[in-house]
Amino acid sequence: MAARAYRRTRAVAQLPAATKLRFPRQRRLTILPANSDQKERPTWRMRERRHRGNGFMALQDNPHDAAGRGDASVAAPAVALGGLDITFHIEGSPPYKAVTGIDLTVSAGEFVSVVGPTGCGKSTLLNAAAGLLTPSAGTVSIFGQPLTGLNRRAGYLFQADALMPWKTALDNVKVALEPMGVPDAEADKRARDWLARVGLRAFVDRYPHMLSGGQRKRVGLAQMLIRDPEILLMDEPFGPLDAQTRQIMGNLLLDLWSKDKKALIFVTHDLEEAISLSDRVVVMSAGPAAGIVADYTVPLPRPRDIAEIRLEKAFHEIHRDIWASLRVEVQKAYAMGDGRELVEGAAS
Ligand SMILES: Nc1ncnc2c1ncn2[C@@H]1O[C@H](COP(=O)(O)OP(=O)(O)OP(=O)(O)O)[C@@H](O)[C@H]1O
Ligand SMILES: [Mg+2]
Repeated sequence: MAARAYRRTRAVAQLPAATKLRFPRQRRLTILPANSDQKERPTWRMRERRHRGNGFMALQDNPHDAAGRGDASVAAPAVALGGLDITFHIEGSPPYKAVTGIDLTVSAGEFVSVVGPTGCGKSTLLNAAAGLLTPSAGTVSIFGQPLTGLNRRAGYLFQADALMPWKTALDNVKVALEPMGVPDAEADKRARDWLARVGLRAFVDRYPHMLSGGQRKRVGLAQMLIRDPEILLMDEPFGPLDAQTRQIMGNLLLDLWSKDKKALIFVTHDLEEAISLSDRVVVMSAGPAAGIVADYTVPLPRPRDIAEIRLEKAFHEIHRDIWASLRVEVQKAYAMGDGRELVEGAAS
């Protein structure tokens, strides 16, 4: 059986107000205070420079020229969120503090899933890491450099499936290279190559309405990966797919990720998916003022087959432990009338 290796994150360990609880068999988990008394600051703005047309966002003009890339940043975490507060200001309503005191680091090559009740702020965290939201307080650092605009070293796959319906699969992928000024012949070659890598060699000329949901998600993956971002931000990318297709997509993602490991932050409602894919699973509390309540290292060996890994005893053990934390937050969200859907994978 794989070694059980629960640990606190560095970020969590740094928080003085953290309360350490002892769990059965000496498992250690850190519960953070649900609320912070930090003053709300009246600053948030959604930047307009996002490209959401395709359900993905390619943030970097040229990843190899990205600001901040240099020897000094190599060892720094790919993403470091420090003391992050995000408050939304809606005209005519009181400010809404979505998340507070978020400390999260993701290393280069690390696959981290974020789970939490609906509405707790998972997408908000991804938006902050992408540079689409300016935090009300705290810092976002990318490879050791403070993020001051769009995160040009990241690719963002949104939950929404929104390929351009008037473009073929090939053209939907090629369009990701347009901002980089890649000549058409080369863009064509690279897009065909990526579509082949995601298993769509025979579908390059299909329009989105001629593709299945899973195939459209593969096109979305190819769109994101063709630009070779160093950080991948994925927001429930397989959400609308059936269970079998999700597993196929999960294995495909692991296969692509393991060949050229990127830092990956993966938001999902499916706890089994989170465990089977990830190096770490981070649990967020119910909002408002949501925080990170637990951070688990997944003690499962790689390479993994995400269907088979679910049969392992170690999988069930960590699932039980994470669900114990998550269930509390899901129930809180329900009690506040905000939990309109249960987290999947809750049965065991
Ligand atoms: N632009 C905005 N203006 C005001 N409130 C917002 C805005 N964006 C998000 N919120 C609020 O912030 C909270 C967190 O939203 P977010 O989309 O990050 O949740 P989530 O965890 O991704 O939820 P889900 O799992 O349902 O996708 C929610 O209560 C939401 O209503
Ligand atoms: Mg969301």
